[in-house]
Amino acid sequence: MSSHKPLKRMTVPKIIERKSGDPIVCLTAYTAPMARLMDPHVDLILVGDSVGMVLHGMDNTLGVTLEHMIMHGQAVMRGAQHALVVVDMPFGSYEESAEQAFRNAARVMQETGCTAVKMEGGARLAETVSYLTDRGIPVMAHVGLLPQSVNAKGGYRIVGRDQSEWPSIEADAQAVADAGAFAVVLEGVAEPLAEKITKSLPIPTIGIGASNQCDGQILVTEDMLGMAERAPSFVKEYADLGGSIETAIRAYAGEVKSRVFPGASHVYSMKGVAKLKVS
Ligand code: KIV
Repeated sequence: MSSHKPLKRMTVPKIIERKSGDPIVCLTAYTAPMARLMDPHVDLILVGDSVGMVLHGMDNTLGVTLEHMIMHGQAVMRGAQHALVVVDMPFGSYEESAEQAFRNAARVMQETGCTAVKMEGGARLAETVSYLTDRGIPVMAHVGLLPQSVNAKGGYRIVGRDQSEWPSIEADAQAVADAGAFAVVLEGVAEPLAEKITKSLPIPTIGIGASNQCDGQILVTEDMLGMAERAPSFVKEYADLGGSIETAIRAYAGEVKSRVFPGASHVYSMKGVAKLKVS
């Protein structure tokens, strides 16, 4: 009998219990291999609509569809057995009404097997959050800098650096918490405000460009691995995979051109004929 015990998947109540406890480790993933690599080390994987920019070369996240999110959600679920998987609701799939949001979120959950969905917005989304959570769909909210509002805001702007903005951002975070969100992403929020919101909310805050006092942190994985052409200044690069990939591809191209690759160990000889040893 195998002694290998399958890892039990992280749950929404366990994430909520981490409020003010051990920081919640989160990253984004869009593919099975990346999910498999991070699964033993993270509590939560977000299949972010950042996939549009990171993998599909889009200028912003607005072109991402429900079909994109479902396809990437399915891939991540195949790679992750331990982490709680949250799938982003793309622009246009949830803003019209609570019913539209429920229909599309239920489809995402049924077709991917993910545990929860994430949507951008504060007070204006409270009714939708409450409609979904009442019907068994865990919602992670997202306030502060909202990438899906890039056109309305004229760019990506850090919020709360001017104290006059604090009350509306605090009200947004409180509204989604009151509506039943199990956690809230604080993106691009001035540090003291992120800390204040974290102290006042009963649910975990997950910071990105916010504060190390948030209850958890998230980054776009390709940004922290050094694979982005240009990453936001709040990103810490833990590797230079972009540089390593380029070096490897340059070496491969050189060896193909000089016929060094494939070498003797990369080709198949005839049966019964010993491989030539080529140095
Ligand atoms: O789409 C995404 O990756 C996100 C994170 C940046 C929080 O929403």
